Amino acid sequence: MKETIVKRIDEDTIRNRIIEMAGQIDRDYEGKKLHMACVLKGSVYFACELSKHLKVPVTIDFMSLSSYGDGMTSQGVITLNQDLTQSIAGKDVLLVEDIIDSGWTLFYVENMLLKREPASFEVCTLLSKTARRETDVFIKYTGFEIEDYFAVGYGLDYAQKYRNIPYIGELQFKEEQ
Ligand code: IMP
Ligand code: MG
Repeated sequence: MKETIVKRIDEDTIRNRIIEMAGQIDRDYEGKKLHMACVLKGSVYFACELSKHLKVPVTIDFMSLSSYGDGMTSQGVITLNQDLTQSIAGKDVLLVEDIIDSGWTLFYVENMLLKREPASFEVCTLLSKTARRETDVFIKYTGFEIEDYFAVGYGLDYAQKYRNIPYIGELQFKEEQ
């Protein structure tokens, strides 16, 4: 099968939306310090761009989870590969994700992080597939609601490929000619 990528959200649209999100976050966190807890590897491009447009003081940490192997559907098992390096106790934590699909990854990570007693905890995601949600999770900041297609680019991968594509594309499979 040949993999093709069809452009869905272009670079300017992504950048403009991230600037809007940063403005909203700045207003909400006025007078506070924001601690971004970013989920590797997919959210890296989004987290970097978002942080550059924030005016509130920001600290950044990363954690690595896996919920998907090299396939396209959730395996239902979430593993913590690498934890955050700093304590989040008493901090205003913003969890940064690339995409919320079923919501199981978020459900797991939120439960884990809330036990560490942050001062506040909110979620920010570049993409959301609300129609596929299987859990009751609250997302305060969503970049784009997307339909049920497999998204790649801007940090999102398929079998570790295509993260560096600068736009959001839909991955399609075509028969080899
Ligand atoms: P959830 O646990 O089903 O919400 O899945 C969340 C994780 O699955 C995301 O953080 C992504 O790593 C991955 N994922 C879900 N949908 C897509 C997609 O369309 N493209 C790439 N990765 C995806
Ligand atoms: Mg992810």
